[in-house]
Amino acid sequence: MSILSKNRFTITSALPYANGPLHIGHLAGAYIPADIFVRFLRLNNKEVVFVCGSDEHGAAITIKAKKEGVTPREIIDKYNKQIKDSFEDFGIDFDIYHRTSEQVHHELSQEFFLNLYEKGEFIEKFSEQYYDEEFHQFLADRYIVGTCPHCHNDGAYGDQCEKCGTSLNPTDLINPKSTLSGKTPILKETKHWYLPLDKYQPWLEKWLIEGKRQELKSNVFGQCQSWLKSGLQPRSMTRDLDWGVDVPLEEAKGKKLYVWLDAPIGYISATKQWALDNGKDWETYWKKQANPADESTLIHFIGKDNIVFHCIIFPAILHAHGEYILPENVPANEFLNLEGDKLSTSRNHAVWLHDYLAEFPGKQDELRYVLSSILPETSDSEFTWKDFQSRVNNELVAILGNFVNRVMVLSHKYFAGKVSLGSALTTQDQSVLSELASFPKDIEQSIGQYRFREALSHFMNAARLGNKYLADEEPWKVYKEDQERVKTVLYVASQIVANLAVLAQPFLPRTATKLFAMLNLTAQSWDRAGLATLISEGHDLGEAVLLFEKITDEQVAFQLEKLANAKAQNAANSAQAEPAKANISYDDFMKMDIRIGTILEAEKVAKTKKLLKLKIDTGIDQRTVVSGIAEYFAPEDIVGKQVSILVNLEPREIKGITSQGMILMAEDADGRLDFVHPTSAIKPGSSVR
Ligand code: MF3
Ligand code: ZN
Repeated sequence: MSILSKNRFTITSALPYANGPLHIGHLAGAYIPADIFVRFLRLNNKEVVFVCGSDEHGAAITIKAKKEGVTPREIIDKYNKQIKDSFEDFGIDFDIYHRTSEQVHHELSQEFFLNLYEKGEFIEKFSEQYYDEEFHQFLADRYIVGTCPHCHNDGAYGDQCEKCGTSLNPTDLINPKSTLSGKTPILKETKHWYLPLDKYQPWLEKWLIEGKRQELKSNVFGQCQSWLKSGLQPRSMTRDLDWGVDVPLEEAKGKKLYVWLDAPIGYISATKQWALDNGKDWETYWKKQANPADESTLIHFIGKDNIVFHCIIFPAILHAHGEYILPENVPANEFLNLEGDKLSTSRNHAVWLHDYLAEFPGKQDELRYVLSSILPETSDSEFTWKDFQSRVNNELVAILGNFVNRVMVLSHKYFAGKVSLGSALTTQDQSVLSELASFPKDIEQSIGQYRFREALSHFMNAARLGNKYLADEEPWKVYKEDQERVKTVLYVASQIVANLAVLAQPFLPRTATKLFAMLNLTAQSWDRAGLATLISEGHDLGEAVLLFEKITDEQVAFQLEKLANAKAQNAANSAQAEPAKANISYDDFMKMDIRIGTILEAEKVAKTKKLLKLKIDTGIDQRTVVSGIAEYFAPEDIVGKQVSILVNLEPREIKGITSQGMILMAEDADGRLDFVHPTSAIKPGSSVR
């Protein structure tokens, strides 16, 4: 069904944590796609509310505050402003950019909690939770890190592994450590309120797996399916923290709502505030209506690390509440990489939006264009500065800018900027104009399926059509013999420029504004796109302005050097080896039974990136060990190698394989691995002490 058959839309983009500035990965994940979508809907005169805001609660904020030695309030005020400014600068056109620290939001979140509480939806449970004795604090979410039981990523948080997207409870982590003290936490009893996700599982399967199989993008559907397959567990909706929304119960004094309960409710409170400010009724955008045809269409734009929250947990909450609509779709993007490496805030491997704007002033649309061309829609994608340069120079400058410029300059030079039809349209002209009429539908179809890269390429094809038309007709040559023909060529070409202005609006808002000004036209809605009469006979064009400039090799080199410097800085920071751990006794050490073994067989563990299944001759026996070294060693290269193996480690189940022991590896600060092995052949079973 066409997206345009709906009338009202509630569009959300993930609320960014107000704990740092935005980079290109944010834009490419949840904001550019949403903005294109919303601009497109508005051009079609749909009723749309587009909401976002800062996510200002949770451990992401308090940990940052601690690191900078300031209060959480100072952190959220600082970054809320910076983030809001970046969105404005890049034309992400929210109706409201709200904050979860606002009173309206606290109240609405508490109302939600109480609604579920009074219905008896929560399971109240005392349980043992990790606690940092040194800091006198329970360790929830990002306060605890450990190894993900699913993908063996060492940096998994207590509530989620961002690497594989799995949602976790702190007690799922292997080898948990407090991020406050770095120590292994103790267990201590506390009471919390759990959402029984297992109880909603049958409903979720029906709604999501049966109901949305067709609509959801395959990357989103796949994730949902695998969570449901592994079985949902009750999940605590409260936390022992001192920053966040208070749990509105007398007996829960001092406890806060889980940030992933309150954050998505932030979409609703933002809408509520916007409605208050603009004399609208917020409920029509969020609640079920007597006549389902009057209900709004809810769409969440997010990055892949948020899929579980938007496809499972938040819908379960909305469903449990009962009065709310459910998302129609959750078009999540995968991740954007930068110059061959993951974007990283902590390693400063990023292109920060505020830096970009300072270094490329006025060039917002260039970045929007390039990011839109490489959106990680179906798999991770990559931004490189060379590619940025070539897309700007070879596409925006050489195709779009060049075409528009030639039309403007020739029209002014030959006819003082007046557009008029000279001799009659040729069949060639007519076929170009009819081809022009096909682009709006193509773009509409792609946008309706959340294929924004494809939509943008249709737009550029319209510019290509214009360029080719001029190259074929060569008005600069014809002018000497046949001015009436040139009038017509420029008439047709001007219609193409005018169409480009209309079609550019969802993608390149600043460029569209410039185009309309050059054409001396007011902005036009989408139903006008495709028309061959956007510019009427005798119309006077405005002044030509420069649309795009080439990106120079020096600019590229400067950016690459900046990234290289950040890398060098990191290397310098990490050259300092980690301080030694606390002393242990000789007896402690002697408890470990480490032997020399020989690798007999090695094979990759299916569906994992990192894991190899090894068969080792330990001298004592032959046993199976699963080891996370596949990124550094190919199975065929290591058979026959001697290694050190801890043979008395408790067996562990990894991906359905029982791993009996652990291969000792050396690991540098960048995570590079190498074996610890004897320099000459030694008998398997020899001990290492
Ligand atoms: N702040 C979260 C993040 O950056 C996203 C929150 S999205 C919302 O991952 F739904 F909770 F708002
Ligand atoms: Zn994982």
